[in-house]
Amino acid sequence: MQPAPIAPRDRLIVALDLPSVTAAEAMIAKLGDSVNFYKIGYQLTYAGGLPLAKELAQAGKKVFMDLKMHDIGNTVARGVESVATLGATFVTVHAYPQTMKAAVEARAGSGLKILAVTVLTSYDDADLHAAGYRLGVSDLVEARAQQAQVLGVDGIVSSPEEAGALRKIVGHQMNLVTPGIRPAGSASGDQKRIMTPARAIAAGADYLVVGRPIVEAADPRATAEAIQAEIAQALG
Ligand code: C5P
Repeated sequence: MQPAPIAPRDRLIVALDLPSVTAAEAMIAKLGDSVNFYKIGYQLTYAGGLPLAKELAQAGKKVFMDLKMHDIGNTVARGVESVATLGATFVTVHAYPQTMKAAVEARAGSGLKILAVTVLTSYDDADLHAAGYRLGVSDLVEARAQQAQVLGVDGIVSSPEEAGALRKIVGHQMNLVTPGIRPAGSASGDQKRIMTPARAIAAGADYLVVGRPIVEAADPRATAEAIQAEIAQALG
């Protein structure tokens, strides 16, 4: 069975990687009704962002809590239960089997979906090697995606470069969420495996996470709308 289609506008997730709730609220006001989906990560969470996450969800926006959880199973499970009370749509966990299993069990009965982070998009083969891994990026991403699927995880976060291969592994039942998106001409920053919005959609991504190209733009709303238009065009 194919999952319900996702509107092009809802496929753009704006990363609110900003230093304060005040800065985040100013960005949300600038983006207005153009953006429906926000990602809140470490920076904003630890700067008082949890009430904002709840407010956004209550206002009808979708919220992705990018907490990249990883701990003993019991601690992950209790954390996931707390995130579910925010009304968030997605939460990330690192793609380790114990962690994914605990998160999936704990989200049962809530509207929260678990996304597994396979390999961070700032990592290449040399970085993995330096961290003590034997596998290169593509092999480790594939192995972790297979484990995520078996454990009932709802979606996967990966570089758009892996989206095509991942689609073949996990089919259409799991959401593919890709950061590392750079509209043509924008700075790559610390991302090493990047793609334009159109190419990421063509590669099979369901949702695109975009931070700095939007929040650091002179006109964030126009930039977000241009990306949404590119997504719509890529979907045909
Ligand atoms: O500014 P930029 O568009 O690079 O932001 C990408 C966002 O996606 C950041 O918030 C980053 O933490 C997040 N992310 C990532 N790679 C992953 C998972 C999340 O870049 N594998």
